Amino acid sequence: MKTKLGLLYGGKSAEHEVSLQTAMAVIKALDLEKFDIYPIYITKEGAWVKGPQLTAPVENVEELAFPNGSQVAPLSLQKANETNEDGYDVLFPLLHGPNGEDGTVQGMFELLNLPYVGNGVLASSAGMDKVIMKNIFAQAGLPQVKYTWLIRSEWEANREEVYNQVEAELGYPNFVKPANLGSSVGISKCSNREELEKAFVEAFQFDRKIIIEEGVTAREIEIGVLGNDHPACSVAGEIISGKDFYDYTAKYTDGKSTMVIPGDVTEEQYAELSKMAITAFKSLDCSGLVRADFFLTKEGDFYINEVNTMPGFTPFSMFPLLWKHTGVEYPVLIEKLVQLAQERYEEKQKIKYTV
Ligand SMILES: Nc1ncnc2c1ncn2[C@@H]1O[C@H](COP(=O)(O)OP(=O)(O)O)[C@@H](O)[C@H]1O
Ligand SMILES: [Mg+2]
Repeated sequence: MKTKLGLLYGGKSAEHEVSLQTAMAVIKALDLEKFDIYPIYITKEGAWVKGPQLTAPVENVEELAFPNGSQVAPLSLQKANETNEDGYDVLFPLLHGPNGEDGTVQGMFELLNLPYVGNGVLASSAGMDKVIMKNIFAQAGLPQVKYTWLIRSEWEANREEVYNQVEAELGYPNFVKPANLGSSVGISKCSNREELEKAFVEAFQFDRKIIIEEGVTAREIEIGVLGNDHPACSVAGEIISGKDFYDYTAKYTDGKSTMVIPGDVTEEQYAELSKMAITAFKSLDCSGLVRADFFLTKEGDFYINEVNTMPGFTPFSMFPLLWKHTGVEYPVLIEKLVQLAQERYEEKQKIKYTV
């Protein structure tokens, strides 16, 4: 029996184009002997459009948007069964950021009782909010840089006092970030009061809540985690940013950043890192996958920076490359994720809903 796999991509998100690239690569990697592929394109406006079943790889991204496809109500998606020709066995959201990685689409799948790849509602939403994520990590005993946070109205009520407090608590340099975004959007590094003031204005454009962190000089080491109840770690990798920090242009446009895989860490450091990554995975109740990102200081201390619950997933992104170097090729990684989705779904069916 072939697995009916629904691929969701595009989305009302800054990462729309990245998502299309990912979808092309995933389609190409899928074994058509094992999978029937059903595309669901989410337009930039947020409409869901069903394309026809794909029976061959797609050559260019335009083919992934179906101008004549039928628009569907997301809530009409169904699970496949003997009588349902139109259903799915598993859905794979190839979406990043708000509306894709933040628990909203995951919540819909839960309501519809559909198996889906990756993290559930709780891990996705907690992982999307940097403040909540850091609070949970703190509780799990994971080392982090010092941080503080606030909402817009608190800042508007008394800006001077807020700046004074940030300076007293964290000093310079520090990083100001919207709480609920990714891809470094809205993030500034500040070295003085003037930059701090600008950074607040900038970050509050993207969110009503921001986080401010002590800035550290550190290498950036990342590791992939894969699994459900018994997650495994990939080799470690290092990001070497061509810029002052790994900002939006460094990530997507200027091509000056490089990935070193495996990263230059000692066996002891790897042991410490993988232990921390698993702790982070478990503390947020993750499932399927995460990429855990760390700072490694000159002194040799690790701090967890964040986890990404739907990390970049093109074949040239860090997460798939980490697994490739660990011995799990891209097509195998995709199959593994689908299998993990099905296992989690089966596990969930054991729950009893009556007393
Ligand atoms: N506290 C910090 N100290 C030093 N560099 C930081 C700090 N926070 C963020 N950075 C830099 O900014 C980049 C983006 O920050 P991050 O918190 O990872 O946001 P995003 O979720 O958008 O990836 C990091 O990869 C790193 O280069
Ligand atoms: Mg990051």
